[in-house]
Amino acid sequence: MTAADPRPAGPRDVDPRPALIEVAGLSASYGRVAALKPVDLHVAEGEFVTVLGPNGAGKTTLLRAICRLVDGAGRISFRGQDISTLRTHHLARLGIVMVQEGRGLFGEMTVRENLLLGAYGLGNAADEVERRFGQVYALFPNLRQRADQIAASMSGGEQQMLAVGRALMAGPKLLMLDEPSLGLAPRIAAGILDALGALNREGLGILLVEQKAPLALKLAQRVYVLASGSVRAELPAHEIGSHHDLARFYFH
Ligand SMILES: Nc1ncnc2c1ncn2[C@@H]1O[C@H](COP(=O)(O)OP(=O)(O)OP(=O)(O)O)[C@@H](O)[C@H]1O
Ligand SMILES: [Mg+2]
Repeated sequence: MTAADPRPAGPRDVDPRPALIEVAGLSASYGRVAALKPVDLHVAEGEFVTVLGPNGAGKTTLLRAICRLVDGAGRISFRGQDISTLRTHHLARLGIVMVQEGRGLFGEMTVRENLLLGAYGLGNAADEVERRFGQVYALFPNLRQRADQIAASMSGGEQQMLAVGRALMAGPKLLMLDEPSLGLAPRIAAGILDALGALNREGLGILLVEQKAPLALKLAQRVYVLASGSVRAELPAHEIGSHHDLARFYFH
């Protein structure tokens, strides 16, 4: 920023990394319910960003609007390309992949079959598919052991690993996750989030919606606090020291 630049300094200005995704004025409604008011947000290349906020804040809607699972208005660019009009499957091909709350697995199919579905965009590039299987199994060894097990018969934690694994099979550049720790025992939740930390250290950009703030804040570099459909705060993760700090943003 030069002395003549009138913009206020913000995290975007001090982060030297180029933007992976930039969202400007993104809004979404369900009928008359304005679930997401115009929101600005970005994730830099290799960055781990967490979105926190109370129930009903619009966190799920935000992720769904980014990957066009709900209609939204606003501008989204990915590595400088305007992707505002692209559909979900096209975004997945570019590397924007979401792990939805509730996991969305095919319960009657095996672990391996579910993973393979994640790689459908690769067509018959068998070597690359096998390489990705190897990566997923290295991250979640449980999935290798249970490759032939029916997904519905897996534990909640294993199903969440499978949901993340399936997203990884698509070769994401930006991985978005909606409360991956929901309903899991603390130790299992911590394991899933640790795996996300490992992926981020390898350079994967992550946008995580998470209610378990202490875990998410340990991993994230930057945090958005969302409440009533609006961004109430954007700050480095280490500046949020306690639930008390968060409540300040939720309720004002
Ligand atoms: N399909 C829908 N139809 C109507 N309203 C909806 C729908 N989905 C969400 N909403 C409303 O939109 C608002 C935002 O919901 P959203 O699910 O995005 O919140 P959230 O922050 O993800 O909440 P939670 O922490 O409970 O998952 C809420 O007021 C919710 O009731
Ligand atoms: Mg939600």
